[in-house]
Amino acid sequence: MPSPDPVFVAQGLTKVYGEGATAVHALRGVDLVIVRGEFVVLLGASGSGKSTLLNILGGLDSATSGTARWTHQGTTHELTGARDAELTRYRREHVGFVFQFYNLIPSLTARENVALVTDLAEDPMTPEDALALVGLGERLDHFVSQLSGGEQQRVAIARAISKKPAVLLCDEPTGALDCATGVMVLQAIERVNHELGTTTVVITHNAPIAAMADRVLRLADGRIVDVQANPHKVAASTLSW
Ligand SMILES: Nc1ncnc2c1ncn2[C@@H]1O[C@H](COP(=O)(O)OP(=O)(O)OP(=O)(O)O)[C@@H](O)[C@H]1O
Ligand SMILES: [Mg+2]
Repeated sequence: MPSPDPVFVAQGLTKVYGEGATAVHALRGVDLVIVRGEFVVLLGASGSGKSTLLNILGGLDSATSGTARWTHQGTTHELTGARDAELTRYRREHVGFVFQFYNLIPSLTARENVALVTDLAEDPMTPEDALALVGLGERLDHFVSQLSGGEQQRVAIARAISKKPAVLLCDEPTGALDCATGVMVLQAIERVNHELGTTTVVITHNAPIAAMADRVLRLADGRIVDVQANPHKVAASTLSW
């Protein structure tokens, strides 16, 4: 269950790419609060600013104006205005990313792909435990090329969560998968959120996925235009699209 403690607080967040006549206003003033343990789904048309927002929260991109703060173990950190070295450290220690394309190393096994992260982390799970959590305990020594798309994405989730990050940020994690496979990936994310209490944000184009969220934020043209709490969230296993 989410707690009332804020993990992310953003106020008046804007992002402008480029300058002058060719400037693109990707975010036009976003305010949000995301609390610890929450499962948030971000919906919105292509180009509405979803990835931009997620990347700012994850320290991969910087805002043009406004503030984004991250609170961890009672200490609040500014993400906007942080130096590159601080953002790198924040990403490395506290953020798990999952993208549409899995970015695994094909010449390594599932276990070795996860070990790339656990070898560097301070207090990681074992690669075996991380892979078991996403249902791949039997596939440890398979090479990436011997795994299906859904299995590869679950390896990517295992890699992202193996360092026990405070937040898991997923940008269209099921975008390259069919529904049945996508549901398995969502079940893995759901389990991480539930069992580890990892604050989770998932971007998706598949509106039915919103049914598994605690809260659904809808973006349009760089603004949050709708926020829906979802007190009757459903299990990922029941979803289809
Ligand atoms: N690096 C960049 N340089 C210039 N413009 C960018 C850059 N990144 C994003 N944009 C623009 O900012 C706007 C928001 O992009 P963003 O990627 O956040 O949208 P999105 O909601 O994630 O879309 P999609 O669903 O297609 O992934 C778009 O108009 C996009 O073209
Ligand atoms: Mg995007």
